[in-house]
Amino acid sequence: MSSQPLRDFILQDRPAEAAPWTAISLFSGAGLSDLGYEMAGFQFVVQVEMNQRRAAIGGDNFPSSTWLVRDVRVSHDEIAAAYRRSTSRRLDLLMATPPCQGMSTSNPSRGKRQTPQAKALEEKNRLMLEVIPLARLLKPRIILVENVRQVLTLEVEYDGAKGQVVDLLRDGLQDYEVFPKVVNVANYGIPQVRRRALIVAVHKDVTRPESVLSRNQPPLPLQTHDEQSNNGMRPWVSIREWLEAMEYEQLDARSKDAARGTHPLHFVPAYGPDRYRQVSEIPAHSGRSAYDNDKCPWCGRQKVDAGLIVCPDCGGAMCNRPYVQRDGRPSLIKGFKSSYRRMNPGRPAYTITTNSSHIGSDFKIHPWENRVLSILECADLQTVPRFYDWTRAKEDKTLYLIRNLVGEAFPTYFTYLHGQTLSDLLSTPLTRRKPRDTPPSAHLALRA
Ligand SMILES: C[S@@+](CC[C@H](N)C(=O)[O-])C[C@H]1O[C@@H](n2cnc3c(N)ncnc32)[C@H](O)[C@@H]1O
Repeated sequence: MSSQPLRDFILQDRPAEAAPWTAISLFSGAGLSDLGYEMAGFQFVVQVEMNQRRAAIGGDNFPSSTWLVRDVRVSHDEIAAAYRRSTSRRLDLLMATPPCQGMSTSNPSRGKRQTPQAKALEEKNRLMLEVIPLARLLKPRIILVENVRQVLTLEVEYDGAKGQVVDLLRDGLQDYEVFPKVVNVANYGIPQVRRRALIVAVHKDVTRPESVLSRNQPPLPLQTHDEQSNNGMRPWVSIREWLEAMEYEQLDARSKDAARGTHPLHFVPAYGPDRYRQVSEIPAHSGRSAYDNDKCPWCGRQKVDAGLIVCPDCGGAMCNRPYVQRDGRPSLIKGFKSSYRRMNPGRPAYTITTNSSHIGSDFKIHPWENRVLSILECADLQTVPRFYDWTRAKEDKTLYLIRNLVGEAFPTYFTYLHGQTLSDLLSTPLTRRKPRDTPPSAHLALRA
């Protein structure tokens, strides 16, 4: 089964710490992306996150790291000092995963540059450049910035200059070679289409093997999957294959009881009668949307025209289509083709986002059950190992925060594979690298 290595990765026990490299992360969230790099051999010495709750959950999972609950923009010296207090070694990896609302396509203010909100978003876009002052202070061997792919064409102002983010990084990081690249995690066997820009900057004193130099590409893991199986690659893992392999308990949004499984993170919102009807009348495995429901729930007339909210025969409301009450009358909710839609079972899941429980958002409905995905299923699709400790969020009754954190992360399995690649690069002095002591089986299986 092609999803087996990923299943093993998620279900494994927490590996013993084996960390030849040091790392700092900025905008750490709860460290879900950091975790993959840690599993590949990077010990996080300092993690910086300005939201107290997120940092507290992260702190539970990275107990030997210093968590600074700070605004990165005004804390460069403090971050460098915290690192130097912990170790005299040169920093190996500085990573930054800033928030991306500034250029996300889902941001309604995009393009309206004059509004105060747009200015705040531009400020957010500049956050990627916060690695520059820290690079001057600590001279990390590798710098990594992750964000939505639109950053590669984005213009921002920084330090009196205006330009594309990658060019500004090149100007600010003169001792580095800067490689931008868009990565789709589905190409690494993850059953989710998630395209992100990775900008990797490698210090010029890091010896890069010929293979990396000649490709003029950032150091990245080998692609193993493709949309179609070609060039010896395996086809993308579909959401159907994945959900079946994971054998989740069946859930149903028709009632609170039916919407809850035995795992504490395996539950979904229950719906009232109309909302449930909107979901349940979309045929299982069809990949269709509630807007396509065309049978009148009152008189049974078939093929009611798209766009109508009232049946032309009986005048009853098409309450199996997404609607709101306006002035006492039903009105069809304006939506995109992708909203109120079941996932296509034959493809990987659409990008898991912070609003993974909103059926009005893109492709959020389970391919065949009548519900959205549970937090557990979203966390698994984001490849967060099950050993990750969410106790604090469960005790604080802030389970919604887990959905948010999971939706923001760069998948842990990808960061683990990438961490392996960066580890290989760092262990390439002038001689060949030596083999790892205990290569994780999931990684080997994937490459086999
Ligand atoms: C995209 S999320 C990071 C996700 C993280 N990589 C993970 O895997 O969990 C961005 C994080 O940056 C934090 N943040 C935003 N602005 C910040 C700032 N100026 N200083 C520190 N943290 C900030 C947010 O609270 C959020 O948790």
